[in-house]
Amino acid sequence: MSKIVVEKSPPLKGTVRVSGAKNSALPILAASLLGTEDIVLEDVPNLKDVDVFCEVLSLLGAKVNRYDGGKIVINSANIDKYENPYELMSKMRASFLVMGPLLARLKHAKTSMPGGCAIGTRPIDLHLKGFKALGADIDVEHGYVGASAEKLVGDRIYLDFPSVGATENIMMAAALAEGETVLDNAAMEPEIVDLANFLSKMGADIKGAGTSSIRIRGVEKLGGAVHSVIPDRIEAGTYMVASAITGGDIIIENVIPSHIKPAIAKLRETGCEIWENGDKIRVIGNKQLKPIDIKTLPYPGFPTDLQAQFMALMTVTEGTSVIIETVFENRFMHVDELKRMGANIKIDGRSAIVQGVETLASAPVKATDLRAGAALILAGLVADGNTVIDNIYHIDRGYDGIEKKLATLGAKISRIE
Ligand code: UD1
Repeated sequence: MSKIVVEKSPPLKGTVRVSGAKNSALPILAASLLGTEDIVLEDVPNLKDVDVFCEVLSLLGAKVNRYDGGKIVINSANIDKYENPYELMSKMRASFLVMGPLLARLKHAKTSMPGGCAIGTRPIDLHLKGFKALGADIDVEHGYVGASAEKLVGDRIYLDFPSVGATENIMMAAALAEGETVLDNAAMEPEIVDLANFLSKMGADIKGAGTSSIRIRGVEKLGGAVHSVIPDRIEAGTYMVASAITGGDIIIENVIPSHIKPAIAKLRETGCEIWENGDKIRVIGNKQLKPIDIKTLPYPGFPTDLQAQFMALMTVTEGTSVIIETVFENRFMHVDELKRMGANIKIDGRSAIVQGVETLASAPVKATDLRAGAALILAGLVADGNTVIDNIYHIDRGYDGIEKKLATLGAKISRIE
């Protein structure tokens, strides 16, 4: 099993390019099942999750061709299977996103129930509420959830929580439903807007994506599209913290600064200097950073997917910082690993109180989930000695070449088999 080894590193310097967003690429791959003509995707990140998603699409009968440089061409004209099996679903929860498109295209969809995962139980009730409102019958048995509908008909749907996945799944199903669907309290993440833009290029009629009320007028058929995936705001935020924690000075390219406002604001609060220039931002760390408080929230609030990385920064920031995690009920798995490196963190329910220490010390640690893994890499950059990180398949699920990108900035990081 591969591991990542991180040595205490000098302040990072140089330029790094952010890849296409994982959380845009996955729903867009799912949406490609809705079209009957060629779909050309560009800037798709090279990730394990994308590999698995392409496997799911092929299994359902789509033709998938991948090219170097992040290009994928998909043709779903002849999809004929509607079951996403346990083996693939268990590798990646996000493959539940094929439900909406399959239901709309083939009148049936079946996928293994997503189980619990490291960051909480993550139910699917809101996805199912949406499908039911559109007229689908839902049945759950033998660990599988099935949805079927002779015809989907638009309706007004209120989400009790602005779930990203439920918004995407319902938007995709509604794109081919009869009549109008209005989705209220919808998620407003940039990835929702990217998906809506992609669906519109395929011929869908969607208004309001990026606001809390999305209106979808169903069309009879969706065609092809050429689409470039938006930059990954979480990857960008991770490199921003890497610069901050090492007292570095780096330029991050292929960024949409308005997508990462909370990360920019919070790093400025710590005392980092941040310059925005078009699709580039420069992040200059400062030796004497100040503690900050963070509360994770749905977009445009502070993203839960950057919580662990910011916690790594707080562990070495003098003073007391507080994190309140409101999006997931159990997203502090990285705390025990950071504590093994000497961090001083106390958990009280959904709050973490982080008392900055002067130095962290390396220890063998394991990535408990994707962003937790990134947090350990960041901590390793400033910990004395060699930090050896295990279970890095989590990191490979969502970061395109993280150790290579950090190494070009001067980080002492390598992968060992
Ligand atoms: C997506 C992202 C993930 C990110 C999360 C929140 C992808 C592939 N993944 O995950 O990286 O951390 O958004 O920004 O885009 N919930 C329910 N019922 C449901 C669905 C969700 O109660 O039917 C709850 C979840 O348990 C969780 C909260 O809603 O507490 C947020 O989940 P959701 O927004 O759905 O996250 P995902 O789409 O799974």
